[in-house]
Amino acid sequence: MCGIVAYVGSRRAYPILIKGLQRLEYRGYDSAGIALITDDNNSIVTYKQAGKVSDLLEFIGDNDTNGSIGIGHTRWATHGPPNQINSHPHSSSDGSFSLIHNGIIENYSSLKKVLEEKGYIFKSDTDSEVLMYLIECVYKTQLKESKDICGDLFYDSIRIALNEVVGAYAIVVIDKNNSEEFYAARKGSPLVIGIGNNEFFVASDASPIIEYTDKVIYLKDEEVARLNKNQEVEIKTIDNKKKSADIQKLEQSIESIEKGGYDHFMLKEIFEQPKSIIDTLRGRINPKTNDIVLGGVKDYESKISTADRLIIIACGTSWHAGLIGEYLIEDLARINVEVEYASEFRYKNPIVTNKDIVIAISQSGETADTLAALEIAKENGALTLGICNVVGSSITRTTSGGTYTHAGPEIGVASTKAFTTQVTVLLLFALRFSQLRKTVDRENYDFLINELNAVPERINQVLNLNDSIEKIALKFKDASNFLYLGRGVNFPIALEGALKLKEISYIHAEGYPAAEMKHGPIALIDEEMPIVVIATRKDNYEKVVSNIQEVKARGGRLIAIVTEGDTEVKSIADHCIEIPKCFREITPLLSIIPLQLLSYHIALMRGCNVDQPRNLAKSVTVE
Ligand code: G6P
Repeated sequence: MCGIVAYVGSRRAYPILIKGLQRLEYRGYDSAGIALITDDNNSIVTYKQAGKVSDLLEFIGDNDTNGSIGIGHTRWATHGPPNQINSHPHSSSDGSFSLIHNGIIENYSSLKKVLEEKGYIFKSDTDSEVLMYLIECVYKTQLKESKDICGDLFYDSIRIALNEVVGAYAIVVIDKNNSEEFYAARKGSPLVIGIGNNEFFVASDASPIIEYTDKVIYLKDEEVARLNKNQEVEIKTIDNKKKSADIQKLEQSIESIEKGGYDHFMLKEIFEQPKSIIDTLRGRINPKTNDIVLGGVKDYESKISTADRLIIIACGTSWHAGLIGEYLIEDLARINVEVEYASEFRYKNPIVTNKDIVIAISQSGETADTLAALEIAKENGALTLGICNVVGSSITRTTSGGTYTHAGPEIGVASTKAFTTQVTVLLLFALRFSQLRKTVDRENYDFLINELNAVPERINQVLNLNDSIEKIALKFKDASNFLYLGRGVNFPIALEGALKLKEISYIHAEGYPAAEMKHGPIALIDEEMPIVVIATRKDNYEKVVSNIQEVKARGGRLIAIVTEGDTEVKSIADHCIEIPKCFREITPLLSIIPLQLLSYHIALMRGCNVDQPRNLAKSVTVE
């Protein structure tokens, strides 16, 4: 979703902003823009354009881009279409200030009405321009009323204006009369400040900052920072309380956000899964005793061991991981688990009490619906835990405890390694909870730990099938619809496989529990219809074989994911992809790999942008 980058210091801002915007492209956007205070210090020059950063670059061409302070933005359209006028930055009506904004101002129409009554004429359809004009209006009112104008007037105006706002924002504002500083504020949308030598960087996430500094501040909700290149950072809350800056060390490396020789981030991230799962498991299983230690959860173990139910809330791919978690935790730890879409949970008047444990799963840790659902759970007294990838993200700060997935940055919009590391954490949860509740005997427990430790090597074996999966992709690349079927713990894999395909190839795909096929999707099956079935051993294999027969009898074209050595399904299916033998609970971590690769190759063959699929955003910070 929208990306923010800003720089103030003594270097040229323009190349830093452009590179920053390119680093933020993965978040998903449909227009881009920058604004610079020119060196003569008296004007703001703005360039914006619908389309990609490359379109913006072409548009700017040889125009003036001097200046060592500036702001840049990639916009994911919410209010108004992705055209030049609606793109950010938005300037104040008199051109003195310019603003970039991520988030949604929910009360923008009432604010707009008041401002229109005061004579402001809006150029764009956006809520962001309303915020810019509101800041300008507060500033002008203050200026008029103020007898003694101090240097804090603009700072205070931003603060006061933000008190009027209902909704979410991450903003950076520049003032054409002050090329030494800008202001940044956030509520509900992420914002990171990078501290250099007499320079500051601001961005929606650390990716545009990483190569310049490892000293960062994660701004908290309702905080406004003044970033003056000649001074220390100054932070106030919107109700005017001074805050000290919590400077942290950034642990990411620049390599982790580059393609490292792969054609696409998605392919790199698919191939990184053995390593990312090793990172997820690292230090969490005692090699001598096989005991699982989850630092961020251990304080709550007594509550977990007596809990009647867990509620998992998540969106998108993380919700699919949650569904797998339901199978794993119910089966191994015998705790009732409910999995909810965060967007439904938050508005359904949920039954949640102080007896409940609510687990939020989110790669980014910033998904607006998941955050809002968590707040409701907290208000009702539930214990909240998080499974997140991004360290320091909003969800990790909102929850009482939780576990990081340590997948490393995921740049491809379609989630791959974030998903498998979430499932890995859920397996750790299921096994740890089973220990606490004594629901799995020692022998089976040790066996499962060994199986878990063997996953990275087994994923490597599946990745070796990449070439043959590419050949299968070639045969199916022109299909218009796909059906994915699975049972038990592989039913969510059918959903996730279908989601991967539709996200990046724009082929309509549906995932279904295999037995449910008879209640609807079977009507769609003909010679044109490819059906992907997860038919691994030990997971209701015979039942799935019957479902496969039903598909075949109607002429459907079958791709089956089978256990190595399978003969039965092989004799029926058109194409089989073998995955190594493993315990049932482990299969999702292997069966998803060929489905990720199949989607990747099909999308590529159809000429799609696999890393930045149309209309999608990596981090959905609006509801
Ligand atoms: C977006 C992304 C998905 C992701 C979902 C939930 O739709 O494109 O890949 O699964 O948001 O995001 P989260 O960060 O909460 O896991």
